[in-house]
Amino acid sequence: RRPVFLDCDTGIDDAVALAYLLASPSIELVGVGTVSGNIDSATAARNTLDLLALAGRTDIPVAVGAHDHLSHGYGGGATHVHGENGIGGVTLPTATRAPEDASAVDLLLELSHRHAGDLHLLTIGPVTNIALALAADPSLPERISGVTAMGGAALCAGNITPVAEANIANDPEAAATMLDAAWDITLVPLDVTMEHTLGEEDREALLASANPFTRAVGEMLDHYFDFYRPIYGERGCALHDPLAAAIAVGDGVTATRAPRVPVIVDTTSGPGRGQTIADLRGQRPRPRDHDGVRTRIVLEVDRPLGPHLVDTLTR
Ligand code: BDR
Ligand code: CA
Repeated sequence: RRPVFLDCDTGIDDAVALAYLLASPSIELVGVGTVSGNIDSATAARNTLDLLALAGRTDIPVAVGAHDHLSHGYGGGATHVHGENGIGGVTLPTATRAPEDASAVDLLLELSHRHAGDLHLLTIGPVTNIALALAADPSLPERISGVTAMGGAALCAGNITPVAEANIANDPEAAATMLDAAWDITLVPLDVTMEHTLGEEDREALLASANPFTRAVGEMLDHYFDFYRPIYGERGCALHDPLAAAIAVGDGVTATRAPRVPVIVDTTSGPGRGQTIADLRGQRPRPRDHDGVRTRIVLEVDRPLGPHLVDTLTR
């Protein structure tokens, strides 16, 4: 089983991604770091610990990461999307377990040594912890087998500004640092995540599950569906983080169009701040100077994630 480290800001769709990872037999979730984004990093860790306890997975270490981003403080989260507690107002049984004493950065570095060469890094929040880990130990990429990151918008509108996606815009400098590092990155942007949804029937199937984590996911989605209703014209939601998780796992959904192109992040202070600029000219016969580019940006996958996700969470 391939070891995976998850960095997240739990978060409703983060919780769905976590449920999917736990239900995926080909990977082993070996650690979780949290970062402020949807909610502050300490609450994200609390949510993650409570969800893991619900799944009976108290063996997976959870470490609190950065509260503030590289260039600015935590902005108060996305409670209109994810609820006041980050998980749609759902109250979970409180896990007795506390987060690790180590920070998310230290946990990631430690696990990168323990699983050197094998550890896959999956990021589904702002990547502040990853930038801090690279600063603390620039040799980290040598021990990471690959990175899958939910973030960005290549050819579509943003979701937090007209051009920027939330995970990137919450810490553009950190995202630029991650994209510059010497590792293979698969970036999963809004272009593709917005195409994958769950609807009311799926939610009912989750609520009917015997698995308490799956039922909790069904409850949380109620709040998430309210947010997405005006966007899709009916109750439902986008599967941002679950799609990145599924691509990282590689069992059910495969990227069919994922060009390897340079992606830069706008770190200026103007209206473009946080935009991901993917040089898709590289899909035409490409200039040689694109050689060495290690970022793929996912633009299409082979099947809808929704049915596979519901199947995985309810079996
Ligand atoms: C991303 O932002 C967060 O709100 C979601 O959890 C997801 O990681 C989508 O832009
Ligand atoms: Ca997230």
